[in-house]
Amino acid sequence: MAKDENVQKKQKMIVGISGASGIWYAARLLTLLRALNIETHLVVSKAAQMTRALETDLSQADLVALADYHYPIDDFSAVISSGSFTAMGMIVVPCSVRTVAEIATGVCQNLLTRSADVTLKERGRELVLMVRETPLHAGHLEHLLKLAQLGACIFPPMPSLYTQPKSIHEMIDYTLLRVLDQFGLHLDTLPRWQQLRLKEKSS
Ligand SMILES: Cc1cc2nc3c(=O)[nH]c(=O)nc-3n(C[C@H](O)[C@H](O)[C@H](O)COP(=O)(O)O)c2cc1C
Repeated sequence: MAKDENVQKKQKMIVGISGASGIWYAARLLTLLRALNIETHLVVSKAAQMTRALETDLSQADLVALADYHYPIDDFSAVISSGSFTAMGMIVVPCSVRTVAEIATGVCQNLLTRSADVTLKERGRELVLMVRETPLHAGHLEHLLKLAQLGACIFPPMPSLYTQPKSIHEMIDYTLLRVLDQFGLHLDTLPRWQQLRLKEKSS
């Protein structure tokens, strides 16, 4: 066996940012993945560039700098377009209902939805969709049901108020902690429910 076959490769995560509200979730997720030593591969939709500019003070360059690799949204020849790219999975954060519709129908017209489709078809790779829209009509729900049946994890970023977050940052972090749990990446930066209950009982 060649020497470099034994080398442990860094785990890789594909991160897709679509044009739903909640760009800060994506920025924070990229930061947390870097701290966890996970190699990130980022694709950002055109609409997400608009929401980024409206919701944050980050430039596109600032956002992209949070990832290890970045691919243009129209580049179907990018490595993340192929099933031979062995990522642990993909997180779409935030995920618009338009992007949901493309993934659910398999009519994938950009690199983000193509990569999500590939993640699903390869099986054994987690696809987490942090869908943000409200209210949802039956068409949205049908797409989400279909994706859940195909094995995607539908994970709307709904804040957990039982943790009594002190800031938006804490709310975002708690949600992302639960998202990363899906991949077996367990953060201990915030107390979990069990710890909160113990604290409550001892006071
Ligand atoms: C400020 C702003 C907020 C938006 N929020 C949402 C949202 O929360 N959910 C959603 O599905 N679409 C939202 N949209 C609309 C999407 O950006 C739009 O449907 C776009 O076509 C999505 O494209 P994409 O899926 O390729 O990113 C928002 C648009 C703007 C400008």
